[in-house]
Amino acid sequence: MCLLTPFNMLLRLLLIGLPLTSCSIPVVPAGTFTTNCHERHFWLSVKGSFLGSMVQFYIEDSTGVHFLSSQRAAECGYTVVLNHRGNLVFRASYLACYVENRGDTEFRVSVRFVNMQTDGSVNAYPFMLHCSLVGPWSLREIVCEENYMEVSVKWPIPIVSREGVKWLELQSQTLEERVKQLRTGQVIFYRPGDFDKTPRQIEDVKAIGYHITATDTRILLRSAYSSLLSYTIKEKNVQVEAVSAIIILQLEGTSPIPVEISVACAKTKAVVDGLYLLWSFPLALSPLVRGWFRTGAMRLGVDGRVLSDCEMRDRGYNVSLKDQTVNIRIPFDKEGAKIKSHVLKGQYAQSLSLEFFYMYHWDDAIWLHTQHRSFLLLRTPYMLRTPIVLNNTDPLTEMFSVTLGVFPADVSLQNITLGRDTMTWTEAKQHNIHLKQILFSNGSHAYELQVPFSHPMVTQRVISGHFRRQSLALTFDLVIFPEEEHFSYRTNVMFDQKEPALSAVLAGSCTERGVMVVLHYGSEDVQWELYVGDRRLDWELVQLGGYRLDGGDDHFSVEIPLYSPGIAYEDLNLKSMIVKVEVSAVNMVTLKAEHSLVQRCTFPVRDFLVCLPEGRILVVTDTTRSIPPTKPNSTTLLDTSCKPTATDSSRALFNFSLDSCGTTMTVEGNYLLYENEIRYSQKFLPKEDPLIHMDSPFRLTLQCRYPLNVTSALTLHPTANTTIKHPSLPQELRQGLNWTKPLSRGLRITKGLKGL
Ligand SMILES: *[C@@H]1O[C@H](CO)[C@@H](O)[C@H](O)[C@H]1NC(C)=O
Ligand SMILES: *[C@@H]1O[C@H](CO)[C@@H](O)[C@H](O)[C@H]1NC(C)=O
Ligand SMILES: *[C@@H]1O[C@H](CO)[C@@H](O)[C@H](O)[C@H]1NC(C)=O
Ligand SMILES: *[C@@H]1O[C@H](CO)[C@@H](O)[C@H](O)[C@H]1NC(C)=O
Ligand SMILES: *[C@@H]1O[C@H](CO)[C@@H](O)[C@H](O)[C@H]1NC(C)=O
Ligand SMILES: *[C@@H]1O[C@H](CO)[C@@H](O)[C@H](O)[C@H]1NC(C)=O
Ligand SMILES: *[C@@H]1O[C@H](CO)[C@@H](O)[C@H](O)[C@H]1NC(C)=O
Ligand SMILES: *[C@@H]1O[C@H](CO)[C@@H](O)[C@H](O)[C@H]1NC(C)=O
Ligand SMILES: *[C@@H]1O[C@H](CO)[C@@H](O)[C@H](O)[C@H]1NC(C)=O
Repeated sequence: MCLLTPFNMLLRLLLIGLPLTSCSIPVVPAGTFTTNCHERHFWLSVKGSFLGSMVQFYIEDSTGVHFLSSQRAAECGYTVVLNHRGNLVFRASYLACYVENRGDTEFRVSVRFVNMQTDGSVNAYPFMLHCSLVGPWSLREIVCEENYMEVSVKWPIPIVSREGVKWLELQSQTLEERVKQLRTGQVIFYRPGDFDKTPRQIEDVKAIGYHITATDTRILLRSAYSSLLSYTIKEKNVQVEAVSAIIILQLEGTSPIPVEISVACAKTKAVVDGLYLLWSFPLALSPLVRGWFRTGAMRLGVDGRVLSDCEMRDRGYNVSLKDQTVNIRIPFDKEGAKIKSHVLKGQYAQSLSLEFFYMYHWDDAIWLHTQHRSFLLLRTPYMLRTPIVLNNTDPLTEMFSVTLGVFPADVSLQNITLGRDTMTWTEAKQHNIHLKQILFSNGSHAYELQVPFSHPMVTQRVISGHFRRQSLALTFDLVIFPEEEHFSYRTNVMFDQKEPALSAVLAGSCTERGVMVVLHYGSEDVQWELYVGDRRLDWELVQLGGYRLDGGDDHFSVEIPLYSPGIAYEDLNLKSMIVKVEVSAVNMVTLKAEHSLVQRCTFPVRDFLVCLPEGRILVVTDTTRSIPPTKPNSTTLLDTSCKPTATDSSRALFNFSLDSCGTTMTVEGNYLLYENEIRYSQKFLPKEDPLIHMDSPFRLTLQCRYPLNVTSALTLHPTANTTIKHPSLPQELRQGLNWTKPLSRGLRITKGLKGL
């Protein structure tokens, strides 16, 4: 916390409403007028809202009522400005004309503020401002006001000669005598390197805007800026305007006494330095410094109030000295500074302004103590400020929530556009769109907009199997008052919503060729391995069984042909067979079979031979193709007791195990070869047939070949005729697969297994 400085506590305010005319003074809302005593100035401010179409100030003293024209104000020490907040500020130097000055310590001035309304009515408000000096006058005091420069020096006057500085005591003189001496005195104006030796009469320079006068204890020079005899120099890269003058006093009985009375003011503009407003000025103003220079303390004030060191620290102000230049950095967005909005090249821009007061003092060889005060209305150039969009979209609420800001009070949202739908505030409300202005305690504001995902202008797009992207194009149309400048701010908001997880699915179907199994990946990113029965689907199995693989972004399929490994024969008769395929999908990370499928398919039965891994042979064959045709129910195997398990008019079905029915076994390389025969059984020769054939009219050799080492391996041989061969790989599979892949590896089945 900051404590008020003694300076602030000692401020004395006085506002006396004195009706100067007989007409009654209208009632004024509280806070309309504020008065202040500010170190060396009377200070009166009038609320902007109270101001009429025209205002005037009159000063009244014993000699009459004086109208303050702008020229008169500058020469006399009065300043009237509209400050950055739009309030009217009236400031008067304690040493201004018409001020009742008691010994340079008590000051009174009678001010009349005239407010003219547009309807023609005129009201006058009289004030008697009264201030007492707080803090003694320095030998020299300089004021750089908005409209004038002022310097006052104290009697006694330093007299510089070759021997050094002497002080001329003039105690005996009265004020009248001094004023009279000044009137008759002369003044020499000069510029560096250009000494105009022709003295001018002090009386005469009044006509060209130089006000030179004396008070009880001081001599004073005041002029407006850019006066006839002023000059500008560059000091540390900063424009400095100066008036250099020497007043020559002719005192009785002495030789003429020169009094150096110069004034200089830095004319710096505030600039933006990052997040700071930067104001720089040279520490020593050369027209004012003689001999050695020693800098003293400084004070800063904002909005007419001097800040303590503690307050400056709290507000983040930074005063630094670099290369004999004082740099004052005032952070943006701090109280005191005011933001003005503007549109620059179609974009939003801001300027920062500040009512600034700066005082510092120094000592030098002649003027042992100088106080230098500046009053400035700092305003930065406009710079682009991109509004900030805060995205508070909460997926749980299923709506976009966006905040746009922060804007000062002069910005107002007019309408919003969602996609191509432009609407005003009221229309937004009708469309059930939540639009709200959020007000901050510092007077700035932001806008909050909420649009449900279900709004027709919200576009939805699936960006991957997992996400649905909701996006919304937003345009905010804003306007700046009072200029009614328009600008727009466009932005896109989006939200990627996770689709509800879709788990993988195994599906089966029957095809002409066999059984089709499809793994739909769903939305999970899982690597799968498929098992057909208890055998892992690997390239060896694919090759062996002539499986057809296919795949896409979202699925993987395998077609298991009839009679290939993996097919189980559940029911077999001469008309049809029911085959069964058991497939499971194993998650390669958890190694768990997460999905499984049993697919059954019924196929019509034609001739075939299957060697089952469990050591059993199934055969269906047409026996009527022999000449003469053989009746199926009259056939047997080598062991004639092994009859067909079923027959119809043309075909016989045999189902027998390898160790029965006279099956023989021989070793052929790495294979075991099992053989049997279906033959015509003599027993059933028709009695009426007189011819007895030596050879059996029907004979069919059956062969099954099993690898020697892996007895459990499947070797199933589809066959259309009796010749049994180890299956070879279908041509189409050869082309589709890369045989350099290690055969022992399972197929890692994940999305994007294209081209299989
Ligand atoms: C003040 O500004 C100067 C120059 O930018 C910097 O070096 C210094 O650290 C600042 N001081 C503080 C307290 O921020
Ligand atoms: C006003 O307050 C808001 C919210 O705290 C802040 O974001 C903004 O920067 C402040 N603006 C000013 C000018 O102080
Ligand atoms: C939206 O605001 C802009 C700018 O203020 C204005 O030009 C336009 O006419 C408005 N549109 C609608 C539909 O109100
Ligand atoms: C807005 O917020 C949501 C939710 O936090 C986030 O998914 C999205 O990426 C954000 N950005 C934009 C530009 O919408
Ligand atoms: C073949 O015979 C065996 C033993 O009787 C029996 O278990 C099996 O189901 C039969 N196979 C078919 C396809 O009918
Ligand atoms: C064999 O089948 C034929 C006709 O299909 C039938 O006439 C005959 O009786 C059957 N013989 C035996 C022994 O079942
Ligand atoms: C089994 O025999 C086949 C055919 O000769 C051979 O390629 C394979 O390596 C053998 N396997 C084992 C485990 O011995
Ligand atoms: C049986 O197979 C052999 C060899 O594959 C072939 O030459 C013959 O034509 C086939 N016979 C019949 C009846 O299909
Ligand atoms: C098979 O794979 C090997 C090794 O990855 C590669 O060099 C070769 O080109 C592939 N062949 C085909 C036909 O894709």
